[in-house]
Amino acid sequence: MRQIYRQIATTPKPFVKWAGGKRQLIPILNENLPKSFGTYFEPFLGGGALLFHILTERNAQKCSISDLNTDLVLTYTTIRNRIDELISSLKSHERNYQKDSKTYYYSVRESNPRSEIEKTSRLLFLNRTCFNGLYRVNSKGKFNVPLGSYTNPNIVNEENLRSVSAILQSSRVAIKCRDFESVLLDAKKGDLVYFDPPYQPVSETANFTGYTNKSFIYNDLNRLTEICMKLDSKGCKVLLSNSDSKEVAEIFPKKSWKINKIQVNRCINSNSKKRTGHFELLIKNY
Ligand SMILES: C[S@@+](CC[C@H](N)C(=O)[O-])C[C@H]1O[C@@H](n2cnc3c(N)ncnc32)[C@H](O)[C@@H]1O
Repeated sequence: MRQIYRQIATTPKPFVKWAGGKRQLIPILNENLPKSFGTYFEPFLGGGALLFHILTERNAQKCSISDLNTDLVLTYTTIRNRIDELISSLKSHERNYQKDSKTYYYSVRESNPRSEIEKTSRLLFLNRTCFNGLYRVNSKGKFNVPLGSYTNPNIVNEENLRSVSAILQSSRVAIKCRDFESVLLDAKKGDLVYFDPPYQPVSETANFTGYTNKSFIYNDLNRLTEICMKLDSKGCKVLLSNSDSKEVAEIFPKKSWKINKIQVNRCINSNSKKRTGHFELLIKNY
C-alpha cells in the first residue's frame, strides 16, 4: 500500500462538498487528536475531511469508516474499486454538460441510474454542478438542489479521485454503510472515535438534516450521548463535534469531558454574510 501511495503526487482530499464538512477545521481538529491511538473510527463520514488528513499523516493507519447514506458509501467503494470506469463516466458527463449545462443538469437530476458506476458519477456530477455544491434529499430520498452558476466546474477532478482511490485500497481501511451505533460493537480500548453528527439545531433556520431521507432527531442525540459514555467506560478515546447548543453542552459531565468552544466559518449557506462568525463545540474525553 505504501508503495501505491508514494506514486500518487496529489494528497487525497474530500471529493464531495458536504454540509458540515470539516476541511477548514483540520488544524484545530489535528491539535485535538490524541498522540497515539489504535483503530480510527469515523461513523458519520460525510466528505471525510479528518479521515483524509489522518491517512495522509499516517498512511498505515487502520480505519473503520461508515455513514448511513447509501449513495455516499457506494461512492467511496466505487472510487476504491472501479476508478477507471468512474473517470470515463465523469468525462462523459463533462462533455454533455459543456454542450447545454441547464438541460443536461436537470436530465441527470431526474435520472435514476441502476449501475454502480452511473449512480456514483451522477452523485459526483451533481455535487460539482448544483447550487452551492450541496447534497440534499427530500423526505422521499430524491436529490432536490437546483443548478448552480459555475463557468467551468471541475467535474472530473481526476488527480484527486485517483489519489483517494489509491489510499482507500489499503486493506487497513474498512468502509461500511450503517448506523453510528454499530461502532460500539467494534471499537476497543485505545481506539479513537470521531463523531461528527448532523448538528442539533441552534435555531429553526439552522436545521439542516437532508443528508439522508431520515432526519437526525433528539432521540438520536440521546443515543449518541449514551454511546459516548459507553465508549468512555470501555477506554476508547472519543472526540465529538456539535453545535454550540445548551442541550449538548449540558449533557457531558465536565469531570471526564473537556468542552471547547471553537470559531468556524460556515461554507454552505446561500447567504454569504451568514457564512462567518459561528461557534461550535469540540468535546473530548482525553
Ligand atoms: C456533519 S456530516 C459529516 C461531515 C464530515 N465530517 C465531513 O468532513 O464532511 C454528518 C453525516 O452523518 C450521516 N448520518 C446521519 N444520520 C446517521 C446515522 N444515524 N448513522 C450514521 N451516519 C448518519 C449523514 O449522512 C452525514 O454524512
